[in-house]
Amino acid sequence: MNTDQFLVKSALKHLEKASFTWQTPSNIALVKYWGKSNPQIAKNASISFTLNNCHTITTIDFVKKEISDEAEFNLFFEGKEKEEFKPKIAEFFRRVQEYCPYILEYKMIINSENSFPHSSGIASSASGLSAIAMCLMSLEKELNADVSAEFVNKKASFLARLGSGSASRSIEGPIVVWGKHPKIEGSSNLFGVKFPYKVHPFFENYQDVILLVDKGEKQVSSTIGHNLMMNHPYAEGRFSQANQNLTKMSKILQEGNREEFINLVESEALTLHAMMLTSNPYFILMKPNTLEIINKIWEYRQENESNICFTLDAGANVHVLFPENEKENVLQFIDNQLSSFCDKNQYIMDSIGLGAKNI
Ligand code: DP6
Repeated sequence: MNTDQFLVKSALKHLEKASFTWQTPSNIALVKYWGKSNPQIAKNASISFTLNNCHTITTIDFVKKEISDEAEFNLFFEGKEKEEFKPKIAEFFRRVQEYCPYILEYKMIINSENSFPHSSGIASSASGLSAIAMCLMSLEKELNADVSAEFVNKKASFLARLGSGSASRSIEGPIVVWGKHPKIEGSSNLFGVKFPYKVHPFFENYQDVILLVDKGEKQVSSTIGHNLMMNHPYAEGRFSQANQNLTKMSKILQEGNREEFINLVESEALTLHAMMLTSNPYFILMKPNTLEIINKIWEYRQENESNICFTLDAGANVHVLFPENEKENVLQFIDNQLSSFCDKNQYIMDSIGLGAKNI
């Protein structure tokens, strides 16, 4: 794999201090990444909608210092120093320092906040790590004027992936593929790429309402879940199915076949959870209300000839996906029939977004 392209080869400018702020989004996978090998290489290609409202805003202040062996940083989350988040970020810096050696020459003060409640069960690693990756790339661009905007995004996705696989899909939008796939031109195991084909207007401004079924800490982290795919009896079948599903999804997104979209998205969500049910040790991340909601969505779709469908990530929350022209009716349905299954009746309204923003 050609990781050489991400090494810093030219001499860098001297810069005493700098500060950058990035807003980067969360994303929701349509074909799921579940199972990886070292170093953070997915076992199958995945594709996601980039979100808009669910995002992280991160500022990093860089102050020049003597070079050290390990990255030095302070981490503030919503204004408070967060020791418990530090090990994951320290590990991220260890993984990227080969590609960003300049971070060892700066003290980094990281200030981060999420637009969604921290304990909402929404994975913040995708938006959180992509925001840090963009700040690092802003510094790299200051230090080396030859770095192009295209390279900034590519390397930011590469770096973000080393922190959290799905974070590689949170740099650009509206639709991103991560993982080498024969039917997706330019795709790579190392970074996410924008879906390279024209998308059918049916998917324009597609909506995602996230129903907050369970805001508690997950019982099994994604990292443990990915590892349980190692000796999983259905692993090989799953990885090849996901790659075939990506071929199908690419065609669906270009041609706008609604029934096929609904069928594939829901099947991917349930297959992801089927992998959890059939791991050893086995685990269940859905809650009774997750199933109540799924059944209500199926009923509503049939009765109203709607294009609504659901997907899940590694948790109990339900993402309700639908085209913009159904917004009014679906929001009414959610208020009347689904919100009562949510923790404190809470949900988040979101839609497809365009990726990282410098602010
Ligand atoms: C179910 O990207 O959170 O959301 O690489 O270990 O950080 P790590 O895992 P992570 O896994 C996400 C899994 C998923 C599916 C997906 O987003 O594709």
